[in-house]
Amino acid sequence: MRIDVLTLFPESIEGFLNESIIKRAINNNKVEINLINFRDYSPLNNNQVDDTPYGGGAGMVLRCEPIFNAINDIKTDDSYVIMLTPEGNKYNQKKARELTSKKHIILLCGHYEGFDERIKTLVDEEISIGDYILTGGEIAAAAIIDSTVRLIDGVITKESLDSESFDDNLLDYPTYTKPAEYNGMKVPDVLISGNHALINKWREEKRIEKTKEKRPDLMN
Ligand code: ADE
Repeated sequence: MRIDVLTLFPESIEGFLNESIIKRAINNNKVEINLINFRDYSPLNNNQVDDTPYGGGAGMVLRCEPIFNAINDIKTDDSYVIMLTPEGNKYNQKKARELTSKKHIILLCGHYEGFDERIKTLVDEEISIGDYILTGGEIAAAAIIDSTVRLIDGVITKESLDSESFDDNLLDYPTYTKPAEYNGMKVPDVLISGNHALINKWREEKRIEKTKEKRPDLMN
């Protein structure tokens, strides 16, 4: 898979790509990630990328030329172009799984008051990571990269991906590690029993219990 991020602030994503699981995925050629500053595609003086809105109003709007030029330059028949915007489809684990089937994803990060509406003609899907306004799309792009890349075959172990939160619309079961007792709080006996049938049954029950309590909306 290849992911190209179109952004005015590549440095804000760079650090995150150099850590832990994502870094390993890149080094093991599971994914290629390119950070592209679309300012470099501006045909205007001083590489201008934004301008005041027609009709008046607050803030600056991203102009068409740099983004059309950048996307037309990097797009192939396999590209899936995603615009990060608070108005987009709400991102979730199902969408992350869907994206792992794409060969080439282009993530378009906005800034300022948003995009000239005509830029949307370039886009396959608009995605939001939640009902709040970020100063730009970079954190949303990082969230999508992180949640998608970890699902690519071979990036983390199959066991780690088994029965995670949101699979089967359930949250994950509670986990414990050593010591078996800490400050009077004990690990449930069943987990120390060595009886794997019982452990699996307990975990399944806990997933249902926890989801009913914390996220009943997932079960509807
Ligand atoms: N850009 C600004 N806010 C955003 C959000 N919530 N999701 C995706 N992109 C954004």
